[in-house]
Amino acid sequence: MTKNSVVPKIIDLPKILDPRGNLSFIESENQIPFAIKRTYWIYDVPGGEIRGSHAFKKGQGFIIALSGSFEVVLNDGHEEKSFFLNRSYYGLYIPEMYWRTIKNFSTNSLALVLASTSYDEEDYIRDFSQFKKEIENV
Ligand code: TYD
Repeated sequence: MTKNSVVPKIIDLPKILDPRGNLSFIESENQIPFAIKRTYWIYDVPGGEIRGSHAFKKGQGFIIALSGSFEVVLNDGHEEKSFFLNRSYYGLYIPEMYWRTIKNFSTNSLALVLASTSYDEEDYIRDFSQFKKEIENV
């Protein structure tokens, strides 16, 4: 994963340990490298289902397993890398132009996604061969 100058990475979040229960937080452009424009979450995923399978031309994202666990597989057009998320105090930063697939959701898992853009179908690339073509021109 070396072609893009900005690469995906796991970011550890602040963790305020407290006997009453722990607390973590994210501030726009502070813990994560973009301003948060949108928040959505994926839940009630039936066993064996796969989400994602697309790339964003401009949108950056940050995914946290608020509950349970799942696997995020990223493809930069050349190679694939897998990230296992299972804690609410770290997440995966995904720059633009990475093909993402989210799979192996555990029962009752909850995936929180912070996005740098508003929802815009025009920003999606949903065809992998189209993605491969476009990544060559980045
Ligand atoms: P999609 O991003 O394809 O889901 P995932 O990547 O999690 O598998 O979104 C599924 C549908 O949900 C899409 O066709 C439109 C709708 N949607 C919105 O209306 N707003 C949003 O912010 C998102 C993420 C999806």
